[in-house]
Amino acid sequence: MNDLKTTVMDRYARAALSVSEGNEASSCCGSTACCGSTVEGWDPITSNLYEEGQTAGIPAEALLASLGCGNPTALAELSAGETVLDLGSGGGIDVLLSAKRVGPTGKAFGLDMTDAMLALANENKAKAGATNVEFLKGEIENIPLPDNSVDVIISNCVINLSGDKQRVIDEAFRVLKPGGRFAVSDVVVRGEIPDNVRRNMELWVGCVAGALEEKEYERILANAGFNPIDIEPTRVYRTEDAAAFLAGSGLDAETLSTEIDGRFMSAFIRGQKPKAAKTCCGPDCCP
Ligand SMILES: C[S@@+](CC[C@H](N)C(=O)[O-])C[C@H]1O[C@@H](n2cnc3c(N)ncnc32)[C@H](O)[C@@H]1O
Repeated sequence: MNDLKTTVMDRYARAALSVSEGNEASSCCGSTACCGSTVEGWDPITSNLYEEGQTAGIPAEALLASLGCGNPTALAELSAGETVLDLGSGGGIDVLLSAKRVGPTGKAFGLDMTDAMLALANENKAKAGATNVEFLKGEIENIPLPDNSVDVIISNCVINLSGDKQRVIDEAFRVLKPGGRFAVSDVVVRGEIPDNVRRNMELWVGCVAGALEEKEYERILANAGFNPIDIEPTRVYRTEDAAAFLAGSGLDAETLSTEIDGRFMSAFIRGQKPKAAKTCCGPDCCP
């Protein structure tokens, strides 16, 4: 396993253990960030993502462990009987919410590489009494499910953590059924950001430095075969938010936060795997 993955795994294992001890995940890491956490504990990325009515019946520990940057199950279309896969499922909140939406004839899978997160997610599954949920151990770059087996892929602030995003998106495309939907929340960059922000490991594990530029995100999705594709901003981070997530990074937060004002956003990213591969239909479309 490469250094980046080990660092990410270590950081999120500590977040999971912190929740098991009764703390909020975002305050788990002291001066080192989890996704969206800040030294002051204020959290511009992960705070207030879920509405009260939506989380009825979800265990408190699943909410405490929430480290996402959006609410993909509120924005994704999910129907009874469908199979959903959550990439980087953490404490399981979005898997449990999806399981309620797809009902007993559907199935919700969560995939995560961190043992402590999987243990927490399985405890939350038991507390919720969910019978149509399965947490899988593995990496989002090598999804342990067959081709064409999933109706909807969701994910919440995880793809930005990967060092090989094209591979993640290719894998998502492979496991989706024809016509299947990619419906993901992630941090996205609009325009250029300074190199020292990009290279900062604390900001990478904090879900910021690894974020894709929006046009690059679209390009990677199109490369995999998704069509149509849509990126919709859900929260745009201004100077004061940037100052909060830059604090503790070792960088000059005061200067940089002004420079990156409005450049980072949480977004809802949609793509569809085409219903069927084009078949040869006549003289104009054969190679
Ligand atoms: C920022 S947290 C988000 C968790 C969850 N989606 C949520 O909204 O609370 C990132 C999660 O993704 C997992 N993760 C990060 N990179 C991964 C990878 N390459 N493969 C599998 N899981 C990964 C981490 O273990 C962690 O549980």
